[in-house]
Amino acid sequence: MSTDKNRKELLQRLSRNLMVSVPVMTVVAMAGATAVSDFNLGLIPSAEAAQGEAEAEGEGEAEGKAEGEAKGEGEGEAEGEGEAVSAEKRESVRRPSDYEPWQGDTESLVAMGEKLFKDTSLSANGLSCQTCHMDGSGYADTFANEYPHFVAMGKRDFGMDEVHLDEMVQICMVAPMGADALDWDSKELAALTEYMRVEQKKFRKGK
Ligand code: HEC
Repeated sequence: MSTDKNRKELLQRLSRNLMVSVPVMTVVAMAGATAVSDFNLGLIPSAEAAQGEAEAEGEGEAEGKAEGEAKGEGEGEAEGEGEAVSAEKRESVRRPSDYEPWQGDTESLVAMGEKLFKDTSLSANGLSCQTCHMDGSGYADTFANEYPHFVAMGKRDFGMDEVHLDEMVQICMVAPMGADALDWDSKELAALTEYMRVEQKKFRKGK
């Protein structure tokens, strides 16, 4: 019996699917803990759908008992990750001391940011910002406040008493999007930040 070897190969084949499902499960765990009710309404169906797809792909490739075991392990890891954000990731969303944001024309940054907002390739789990923030959804009331301000996710998962808008973009990159923080001096970060100012104005009007 070479079940160990088979399992290893299977896990390797499944790893792509796990990379998809782990951050999604992390998000589901976060959704369970958050008090933001319209976020829950918006997220859970899409996260479940993404999770379903990831599992379906895995099932297509996997066979028999080994599949069940591999999936079991994947879920165990996912739960572990949902509990805490690593110290490195927590640090990566904080403005560095030598921070010099990209400077550019606001209008073209907003246009670029609007595109990035819909871009699933920014995340490690197939989500885009828009997946959760379609038409002004998925934000708590704090979004209307002047930055820096308190944001529940920033406090709970990153230990931050208040966040700047660019830090909030990085928080959503790292936590719900399961990706690395953007480079602090990148045009992408400046663009998403500028676009979020436009989103904030719309959000305030919609209140
Ligand atoms: C999986 C869902 C999800 C995705 C994807 C996501 N976010 Fe969020 N976002 C949230 C949740 C949940 C909150 C509310 C957090 C809170 O209030 O504690 C939030 C809040 C925010 C806020 C407002 C915070 C405040 O109250 O001041 C901004 C800005 C934001 N997200 C930007 C982004 C950007 C930019 C992206 C893409 C890079 C993104 N989000 C992707 C779930 C998501």
